[in-house]
Amino acid sequence: MNQNELKAAAAAAAVQYLAQHLPADAILGMGTGSTINLVIDALAPLKDRIRAAVSSSEASTQRLAAQGIAVLDLNDLPMGTELPIYIDGADEINPRFHMIKGGGGALTREKIVASAARTFVCVCDASKEVDTLGAFPLPVEVIPLAREHLARRLAADLGARVQWRTDFVTDNGNHILDLHGLAITEPVALEEALNHYPGLVTNGLFARRGADVLISAHADGVRLRNKTATSA
Ligand code: A5P
Repeated sequence: MNQNELKAAAAAAAVQYLAQHLPADAILGMGTGSTINLVIDALAPLKDRIRAAVSSSEASTQRLAAQGIAVLDLNDLPMGTELPIYIDGADEINPRFHMIKGGGGALTREKIVASAARTFVCVCDASKEVDTLGAFPLPVEVIPLAREHLARRLAADLGARVQWRTDFVTDNGNHILDLHGLAITEPVALEEALNHYPGLVTNGLFARRGADVLISAHADGVRLRNKTATSA
């Protein structure tokens, strides 16, 4: 199976997972990316169970709307309502279910919506599973004014090769720097350290709040794992 076929298999398994675990009349947190697009496209049989979705990008919002699924702004979530599930892809995920995300540039809204959910379900193909994060360049969203200053600081402090994603502006009007050449052995510590740089809006490490469930498609079938069973 090629990568697209694996993504499709993972997405089909994710929809099955939602059919089993999503409470009736739920508000679903929705990620961004090519794998999630396949999930959204297969949501039709569950439409009656989903009151609305909270989306992590304009792209996912449009796709959800095309499926006839109402999209709520996180600010408009009725008081006391929680998102039972946030579902999203990943660029890399390690055995402790820490992730690099933001390859599509939606990391800030993804991190916000994920933080409002009880369970984070990561859906991906096997190529995303790694022992050590960092072969995929770590995206960081920055305020445009701070871009060059931050690029120099991050290169000096982390030894990263920093590349500005010149052809891209985030849904929040910001820029993305991709940090190449990192071997991230302490993802929680690096996520926390990056949170302290003025002008750096969000970093693409999802380690403090990683995934709770991993649905990943391998050549020999789809594997569903819970964090408690696999994390160190
Ligand atoms: C979007 O900004 C990302 O975090 C995506 O979730 C991640 O890049 C996975 O995307 P694919 O499903 O397209 O591989």
